Amino acid sequence: MIMKKKAKYIKVDDFLKMLKDGDKIVGGMAANEPQLILANLHRAFDDYDVKSLEFTNCLGIRQDAPIYTEKYSDKIEISSWFYDPAIRKAHQNGNASFIPNYLHYAHTKRFERVKYDYFVSAASMPDEHGYISLSTCNVYEKAAVKNAKVTVLEVNPNFPRTFGDLEIHISEVDYLIETDYPCPTLPDIPLNEKDIAIGKFIADRIEDGSCIQLGIGGIPNAVAEQLKNKKDLGIHTEMFTSTMVDLIECGAVTGKKKKLYPGKHVAAFAFGNQKLYDFINNNPSVLLIDGAWVNDPYVIGQNDKQVSINAALEVALDGQVASESIGTRQFSGAGGQVDTAVGAQNSKGGKSFIALYSTALVRNPETGVREPKSKIVPFITPGGAVTLSRADVDNVVTEYGVAELRGTTLKERAIELIKIAHPDFREELFNEGVSIGILSERERPKLVKYFKK
Ligand code: COA
Repeated sequence: MIMKKKAKYIKVDDFLKMLKDGDKIVGGMAANEPQLILANLHRAFDDYDVKSLEFTNCLGIRQDAPIYTEKYSDKIEISSWFYDPAIRKAHQNGNASFIPNYLHYAHTKRFERVKYDYFVSAASMPDEHGYISLSTCNVYEKAAVKNAKVTVLEVNPNFPRTFGDLEIHISEVDYLIETDYPCPTLPDIPLNEKDIAIGKFIADRIEDGSCIQLGIGGIPNAVAEQLKNKKDLGIHTEMFTSTMVDLIECGAVTGKKKKLYPGKHVAAFAFGNQKLYDFINNNPSVLLIDGAWVNDPYVIGQNDKQVSINAALEVALDGQVASESIGTRQFSGAGGQVDTAVGAQNSKGGKSFIALYSTALVRNPETGVREPKSKIVPFITPGGAVTLSRADVDNVVTEYGVAELRGTTLKERAIELIKIAHPDFREELFNEGVSIGILSERERPKLVKYFKK
């Protein structure tokens, strides 16, 4: 008979005491971030004389964790698959670095290279059979249990028990810390006029029976709001969102037309409001499956009419999309943007949408005043990372309309993009397009009616 080991219940200080100089820790992402450990990790240095640690995360939410402050910058080396505001700040102290990735192979590549000493994450309570659900995230969390030498879970009755393939047996876990903080939520942000305009443009192009992926932010939420009168939509998405629950409840999503897991809603993680967590709790219609599979563009392409909707920071006149950096400043990460944009175009009848406001308010360094700046640009700000290549871009949407770029020449796409730029910047963009050789003066008559009078 094989004797299964039994996970041991410990306190957070027992975990801190275990840490040794140079230990590498990988943490669960988004709502699965272990809040108690994050709030206390700096005490490994202060109270237990640990000299150095390495910590990897993705889309962190504990913005006030002391480990991100300058005080600990010579003790902890941070790496991240997706920057958040706290890590953006920590980056300035010199102890944080971004891991370039597409989500579907982020962890597989990292875990080939790095054997972590600890995986730390939030999770549901063990059930009567000894199974623990990794709750809201299976982007890399179940793979991390296999990679790490030691797994420590903050088990919590407020975390939903979910299905897919993120259940693990207590015998696969080393230590459990009992906690009872609320499952972290993502606030519902009210939609503005631009979100609504963009949402309508996109929703008008989504047919009944489509399978949807929505990224993070106001624009994807606005699209969802406009989809409530559609029929037989399906969900195959990296992130399961609060708005998707509304679409299921109003009957717009049935999942009937899906080729993969018909009738089920497939995602790699869930992040949203409490209603979302109540919905996914003990609900076998939602499957949270490893991000390496969910986001594989070849898997995504197997459903028909797959639609992907993601946001961006800049789109260049040649169609290159920058969504993760502003010039040399790493802002967030690619996440699943490329996986889902390419996957949607692998799908029969599929479409990808990159949605952005035509302008951003950016502080003028001389006056300190925030001024509008076009997000459609002649070229990506020097030093910026191209997230989606110009060969992979499909539709680009602003509050002024949709530029359909699939199959276009550079000249055609520059014209389409100028038409959806903010009117204040269109003529300037045209002149710059001419000066960099994408356009010529011969195109001026086609565009002049779009310039501001
Ligand atoms: N130049 C300078 N600043 C810019 C800018 C630009 N071109 N575009 C945006 N900004 C500024 C905004 O003014 C805003 O600043 P503020 O916070 O001081 O107001 C900030 O950057 C954020 O812009 P916003 O448009 O509000 O971003 P968002 O919260 O809607 O997120 C992305 C947009 C692109 C950053 C986000 O969707 C992302 O990280 N995407 C990449 C990953 C992805 O799409 N994955 C797929 C699903 S997970």
